[in-house]
Amino acid sequence: MTEPSHLRETRTSYDTVAVDYAEIVRPAFESDLLGRAMLGAFAELVRSAGGGPVVGCGPGHVTAHLCSLGLTAFGVDLSPGMIEVARRDHPGLRFDIGTMTALEPADGELGGVVAWYSIIHTPPDALPAVFAEFHRVLAPGGHLLLGFHTGDERRRKNSGYGGHEMSLDVYLLPPDRIAELATCAGLVVHVRLIRQSENTRSPHACLLVRKPANS
Ligand SMILES: C[S@@+](CC[C@H](N)C(=O)[O-])C[C@H]1O[C@@H](n2cnc3c(N)ncnc32)[C@H](O)[C@@H]1O
Repeated sequence: MTEPSHLRETRTSYDTVAVDYAEIVRPAFESDLLGRAMLGAFAELVRSAGGGPVVGCGPGHVTAHLCSLGLTAFGVDLSPGMIEVARRDHPGLRFDIGTMTALEPADGELGGVVAWYSIIHTPPDALPAVFAEFHRVLAPGGHLLLGFHTGDERRRKNSGYGGHEMSLDVYLLPPDRIAELATCAGLVVHVRLIRQSENTRSPHACLLVRKPANS
């Protein structure tokens, strides 16, 4: 089967920026206290269930943070360059090359899934398949944490992270539509956090979603 072009563009772009992305994002993540608080709440909720993957893990800092909070988290990313940096910076943790549209775990295997600024490169018409995959891998009662930029717009990104050439789309997403997609996939939205960021024009959203215990 031919790979969708957005996956190819995302992989190539993040391969190009991986090393500098890690340098730039690490301190930003350290100072993102509200984002870390949401990840902390997620960790509290799924700790008894063991954990699960960070999909679109990038250079691995979110995975490492969840592991430091007691989860058996692992990272999955499309970009081999990102996975190489994640393994370099966090030896001993598990990082796999893969796509969130076809995750490795069996049906119902995972207590939690985190997609932290990683659904933002998926065209909206391809998002239902992503949410169906999240629903498939989550155990009944399992949790999904999503972070993304809000809006309703596609932006072309041609450079970034130290002036590297990139060529991919970034989607600003309406939280209501994301909540609707989660609901249509059989998940239940528990928490919606919308926060203004000092660094970007569009507010950021964080959704905490659960697969019903009886499903
Ligand atoms: C903006 S970065 C976010 C990385 C990291 N989660 C963070 O918070 O810094 C987006 C990441 O998602 C990955 N990604 C995008 N679409 C993906 C997909 N379908 N499957 C796996 N990874 C994906 C990209 O390769 C990239 O590393």
